[in-house]
Formats: sequence, structure tokens, C-alpha cells
Amino acid sequence: MYDELKVPPRILLGPGPTIANPRVLKAMTTPMLGYLDVDFVQIMNNTVELLREVYGTKNKLTFPVSGTGTSGMEASLANIIEPGDAVMVGINGYFGGRIADIAERCGAVVTPIEAEWGEIIKPEQIAEACEKVSPKLIAIVHGETSTGILQPLEDIIDIAHRYDALFLADCVTSLGGQPVDVDERGIDIAYSCTQKCLAGPPGLSPVSFSDRVVDAIRKRKTRIQSFYLDVTLLEEYWTGDTRKYHHTVSMSLIYALREALRIIQEEGLSERYKRHELNADALIAGAEAIGLEPAATEDYRLPMLTTLRIPDGIDDATLRKRLLQDYSIEIGGGLGIFAGKAWRIGLMGDAANEQNVLLVLNAIEKLLIEYGYGVKAGTAVSAAAAVYHNAS
Ligand SMILES: Cc1ncc(COP(=O)(O)O)c(C=O)c1O
Repeated sequence: MYDELKVPPRILLGPGPTIANPRVLKAMTTPMLGYLDVDFVQIMNNTVELLREVYGTKNKLTFPVSGTGTSGMEASLANIIEPGDAVMVGINGYFGGRIADIAERCGAVVTPIEAEWGEIIKPEQIAEACEKVSPKLIAIVHGETSTGILQPLEDIIDIAHRYDALFLADCVTSLGGQPVDVDERGIDIAYSCTQKCLAGPPGLSPVSFSDRVVDAIRKRKTRIQSFYLDVTLLEEYWTGDTRKYHHTVSMSLIYALREALRIIQEEGLSERYKRHELNADALIAGAEAIGLEPAATEDYRLPMLTTLRIPDGIDDATLRKRLLQDYSIEIGGGLGIFAGKAWRIGLMGDAANEQNVLLVLNAIEKLLIEYGYGVKAGTAVSAAAAVYHNAS
């Protein structure tokens, strides 16, 4: 016999999942309802309304896809791409690469627009490429979790629309942490996840498709290859007066998402964005005070995920293992070319708070000193504390 399930109380400061709010966990214990029960449909409607608020959109086709962030990525690409379509993908990190991979699997001819990891994709690069190919879709990662870059979108969206292309933004890390503003910016396709700045459990991928996208999907010449992710079928379950079964959604995850979004509504979006920014500023001040250099270029840093270059002579895995063992803190290791070279510290959702910033800085500093890194004890925490003092 196995014992009753018990997990250690981790402080999740990695790239996600982040700590789920206790109210969200409680909502998950609500009893099941039938997938077409009138009361459940009401809960679905509430969830969609709340999602529209956080996305800043009136898009009718806004709903959570079953599956993690990658399911929203796959749904977005599979519905819009037909074999042979030209698609431009910004690749300045791991997840841009994943978009390109899935787009190719959908039959797209992909033009990669590349930048160094830790740098942004420049609008001029897109404009130049649009002179040579006419893309149906331009796709960019808004918050690149592998590098800690927050990609400016406005100019690239203008270019996309000037060349009559649809614009897709991966908002997996940005939604709920920084403004996405789908309608104001003119984003045509956005997808996200529930386990990062929405501070819920993993398992759903909220998507939002503009009317231009819906129109483009209706004009497809070929059938959408995926049944599970076909938004023309999912639309009949998620919107409209009469609902049609498509697949059995996870009630528990939808209860959780609804509660997570209610918490966001209570806090207010601008307050929430400011909170993420303040805590990232304090984290970076503390890290820089002990010589840890952010890997993302200044001015474009993603407040919810900070990448720090690992100093020479410090072993990545050993330090992260000690953080987990001694402090119960999880931070992320580097992905792709940053593996072993950068740490990824996530301050997402509820986890973006002063307590966590001071705790993780103190823990990292203490371990670095133990491993022979020359720095005076208390330096990181006092630099971070100064940021909080100045802000109050
Ligand atoms: C920017 C970005 N896009 C896509 C994904 C994939 O999301 P998931 O792991 O939830 O499938 C991630 C995951 O970390 C991400 O950070």
C-alpha cells in the first residue's frame, strides 16, 4: 500500500508552474457537473467573460483549450495553416523554435526571423523579410521564458497588418503579468497557459481569435487536420445559445481557472502588472549587487522571468539541488543554449512578492559564498530591500 499523497511545501520560483493560490486549489475540489449541465455552462460563460477581461478583448472566440500552453500553440497554428502557407516566425529563444517546428508540421513554409538569445526581434527584420515573402501569418513570442525577453509588439503588428498578414502572439508567460491588450494592439491570435501568471494549475490554454482569424479559418480549402483542436467544432461547445458536445472538458480545471481569474479581477490588472515589475526590479538589483548579470538585454526584460548568467566556477545543478534541499526553493535551469549557463527565476502570480525575492536572494548568496564566490554576506538582500524602501 502506498501512503496518502503528500508533497513537500515547495516555493516555486522557476519558469512555471508557479504556486497556485489556495482559493484556486479549493475551487478544484468542487463536485463534478455534466459537461452540458446548465449550471456548468454558466460557469463556462463566467470563465470566458473573465478571460476576455484579462486578454483585453471582445473576441467572441475566446476560451480555454484543453491541454497546456503547447495545446494553444498547436490549436492556433493547426487551425490557420494550410499546407504550403508562408509563415514567418520570430526565433530568439526556445519557444520561438517550437512555434516554427509546429508550423512546419502543419505544412507551412517557415521563414525564421532570428535574433541572439537575450535580444528582441527587431521590426526592421520583419519588414525586410516581408519584402521577399508574403506571409499569411507572423508569429512571435511575447514573453520568451527561455531568455527573459519581453518582446515589443506594436511595430511588428503594424507591419503584419500592412502586409495583410495575421499576427500571432505567444502569451504563455505574459498573460496576467504584463499587458497583452489583444484588441488595442490588434493581436489576431493569442494563446496562454494557466500555470504561470494566472497562478492556477497546468492543464488549460486560454486562446483568443479575432474575427479576421475566424474568417480566414472559414475560408480554408482543406479540412483542419486535428479533430481535438478544431476551433470550428470547439466554438460550438464554448459559445452560442445551443451547446454541442465536443469532448469532456475538465470541470476541475475550469473551476480553477474561473477562481484564478476572479482573484486577478479583485487585484486589478494594472496593480498586478506593477507588482510584477516592482518585484523583478528588486530581484535584479539584488542579483546585480553580487555580480550576477541578467542574460536579457536591458529595457526589454520580462518582469515575470529573470535570467541570470551563472558565474564561472559555479555548478548549475549542484546549486539548484541545494536550493531545493535546504530551502525548498525551485528555480529553473537554462533551456537550449542557456542550459548550464543561466538560471531562470520566475516571479509569477502570487509568487511575485517581497518575501520570496528576499528569500531567494539570501539563499543564492549564501550558497555562492559557500562555493567560494567572493561576496560580502547580506549584499544582495540589502540592495533588493532598498528598491522596496524607495517604492514605498
Ligand atoms: C513562452 C512559452 N510558450 C510555450 C510554452 C509551452 O507551454 P506548456 O509547457 O504549458 O505546454 C511555454 C512553457 O513554458 C512557454 O514559456
